[in-house]
Amino acid sequence: MSAALNATASLYDTASLYDRVKRVIPAIEWPVFADDIAAIIQLKRERRAVVLAHNYQTPEIFNCVADIVGDSLALAREAIRVDADVIVLAGVHFMAETAKLLNPGKTVLIPDPEAGCSLADSITPADMRLLRERYPGVPIVTYVNTSAAVKAASDICCTSGNARKIVESLGAPHVIMVPDEYLAQNIAQETGVQIITWAGHCEVHERFTASQIRTLRRENPGVVVLAHPECPPEVVAEADFAGSTAMMSDFVDARAPARVLLVTECSMSDNIAVRHPEVEFVRPCNLCPHMKRITLPKIRVALEQMGHEVRIEASVAARARQAVERMLAVR
Ligand code: 13P
Ligand code: SF4
Repeated sequence: MSAALNATASLYDTASLYDRVKRVIPAIEWPVFADDIAAIIQLKRERRAVVLAHNYQTPEIFNCVADIVGDSLALAREAIRVDADVIVLAGVHFMAETAKLLNPGKTVLIPDPEAGCSLADSITPADMRLLRERYPGVPIVTYVNTSAAVKAASDICCTSGNARKIVESLGAPHVIMVPDEYLAQNIAQETGVQIITWAGHCEVHERFTASQIRTLRRENPGVVVLAHPECPPEVVAEADFAGSTAMMSDFVDARAPARVLLVTECSMSDNIAVRHPEVEFVRPCNLCPHMKRITLPKIRVALEQMGHEVRIEASVAARARQAVERMLAVR
């Protein structure tokens, strides 16, 4: 088939998918996506593959090629349940590692291995050894936004969706929580547990300020403000609700506020707007450059070439898996 005929066929095949995202993707942009989407759908069938996509993925990935979407906790949980030979993780590297830890027998692909995270980059296994030496006997909770090697050096993992529950489950007067200083401070305030923090920050959420939120409230009367707990505590204090990306999404689904401000990454608003035309989104969002490394063409190439496969050294994987499984066992 000629390239022009191919393109027309792809547009026809993907018409119903475009209908889903037409509120957030201009019609003029769709032909750029349609061919890759049709190819990815076909490749998923041939490879027995599924695409797991984080809430920060762009709308054409999130709504048109993903089989499972969610926050870090949901992706970790669902990774165990997927019936497929191949998992393509449309998200950042630590998420792909978590999927591999929980699915050692499956092939896990990350479309761009450079899709990192400022939090994961802020702490190393050597730092973890120093913390153990300095605070003997104090349990270490590791945010999932870390490398497998750092998870392996910790006692238990947490995500933004279960951090409070995990810290409380330990029943300890002191807890070390790494590497997100703000998440740790926010959880310390919620639980009253004394938390020893690490100076890691999310480069997306640390840029929001309390005065910015106050200004946006003045300019947008009645706006409901939802913040991610990776934001500094003074920003969370300005919000009506704080929670993981899935908790923010659930909040909008349940209450459908007339106007909402999601204090988090940009694509979240687009992805929720797809199913909530009645909600007005105020958008002072910040982009995550790492999440944005994942694109449709890279997902297509990953499936065509079965690259870039995530591999974790066996002894590291065994200990890191234990920390993730301990987290998943806390209900
Ligand atoms: P969630 O687990 O809330 O989706 O957060 C992941 C993340 O990277 C937020 O910046
Ligand atoms: Fe990491 Fe922040 Fe990007 Fe999430 S938004 S992946 S925490 S840099």
